[in-house]
Amino acid sequence: MPKRPLTVLLGLNVRTSRDVPLHRQLYLGIRGLILDGRLKPGARLPSTRNLANELMVSRTPVLNAFEQLIFEGYLEGKVGSGTRVSACIPGDVRHLSSSTELAHLPKSRRKPRVARRAPVYLFDKTLSAMPIRPLRPGLPDIGSLPLKLWSRLTAKHWREAGSEFTQHGDSLGFLPLRKAICEYVSRSRAVRCEPDQVLITSGAQQALYLCATTLLDVGETIWMEDPGYPRARAAFSSAKLKTVPVPVDAEGLEVSAGMKKQPAPQMIYVTPSFQCPLGLMMSLPRRFELLRIATEKNAWILEDDYFSEYRYGTNPVASLQSLDRNDRVIYIGNFSKSVVPFLRIGFLIVPPSIVNIIRMARSTVSRQPPGVDQAALAEFIGEGHLERHIRATLQIYRSRHEALVDAIRQYGNGMLEPSATGIGMYLVAWLPRGVDDRRAAKVAFASGVDTVPLSSFSVRPLRRGGLVLGYSAYDAKRIRTATRHLCDALFNMKNTTTN
Ligand SMILES: Cc1ncc(COP(=O)(O)O)c(C=O)c1O
Repeated sequence: MPKRPLTVLLGLNVRTSRDVPLHRQLYLGIRGLILDGRLKPGARLPSTRNLANELMVSRTPVLNAFEQLIFEGYLEGKVGSGTRVSACIPGDVRHLSSSTELAHLPKSRRKPRVARRAPVYLFDKTLSAMPIRPLRPGLPDIGSLPLKLWSRLTAKHWREAGSEFTQHGDSLGFLPLRKAICEYVSRSRAVRCEPDQVLITSGAQQALYLCATTLLDVGETIWMEDPGYPRARAAFSSAKLKTVPVPVDAEGLEVSAGMKKQPAPQMIYVTPSFQCPLGLMMSLPRRFELLRIATEKNAWILEDDYFSEYRYGTNPVASLQSLDRNDRVIYIGNFSKSVVPFLRIGFLIVPPSIVNIIRMARSTVSRQPPGVDQAALAEFIGEGHLERHIRATLQIYRSRHEALVDAIRQYGNGMLEPSATGIGMYLVAWLPRGVDDRRAAKVAFASGVDTVPLSSFSVRPLRRGGLVLGYSAYDAKRIRTATRHLCDALFNMKNTTTN
């Protein structure tokens, strides 16, 4: 009986394809046969000429595939003088890669090993991974993004790449961007700094994490506003800091309450220009009190100035950093709000005494953000585009804020009451006392409206629940429709609870 060709016996097949070249198909096919155990160690392969004939292809792709398999150690011998499956392929690899055998393997019930300190992001479990719907908070208006300008700038910087593009660069970040940021924040926020105090980060999140891990030891104390920014809390807890939740009142973080709870903090995290999420501005007396305590206790203050640009109704307030005379304040800025979160560029401005330690810490995590984006952003700021973009979006956000407040007043029906902050990209709408805001957010979600319950920002139970509602990313019509649906859903929830 004539011997059946190996290709027929093993089902090795190739076909002309635009996506996967022939040599790659052959390489993957033979490698699969080896890993499946159908070609055993020591098995002799047909000559490349015979294999090419059997498969009705030219010899070149077969030669290329064999060379690659020999190079990677799957085959041994010399192309042209007999090739065998390598004797060193371990049995367990063959066993595990066989799809039929894999299906019959007992399922491991063991939990994957992760560190106990691995943080749990409640936020990520809920909205972040889902498609965006009104009134999800904190997102910039996509239609206003200067995308053409941005692509022109990035293309230009790739084209004009200089010698600095061939290096890893300073871990503080791209110098022209540090200079541009320095000028911008001293102009707009009265921040006092030199370019060598600026460290470019991958968003504010990395800045928080770097400070938490570099400046404090495990178990040391950080005061944090309560309610406060959950991602900051997550960064601090993954650095194994002891986070002390400190209440906020109309003037900002209650320093006296903090002193009662834990009088010796090593760090204090605040959002003074727009308290996250209540939207209140820290008063001047409270700013001075905070600076005094930080100096007395030798504590760092992390000033997260995440929303400073979007303030209307009143003039911008200077940063806390601008009042600091004792090098206690570390200023954190970002471009997630004023440009777009996807850019992933933020920055830290640190006192000169810790520039080097922060620079070294940064170089071990991620050396610096992508260079071309930094170069494009430097020009975007330097040429005044950032400030123009902020002025334009500010107008849009102002009218959307009004649209949301009007819609809540029109449809609220006793279920929602807008807070009177008048700034930012979102607002807190208060629910009637006794209404569980997590349940309200679930009901809202089912009615097609994204909201974030105020209690998800809070460690202690709240005296009154609320929903955080965004307006910056949606036009007035969508805001009105979503608010009507939301209010109807909340009203029905109340009726079904009381009936
Ligand atoms: C309080 C606060 N800080 C900073 C940021 C920005 O973070 P990132 O720059 O990592 O996007 C946000 C975004 O929602 C925020 O709410």
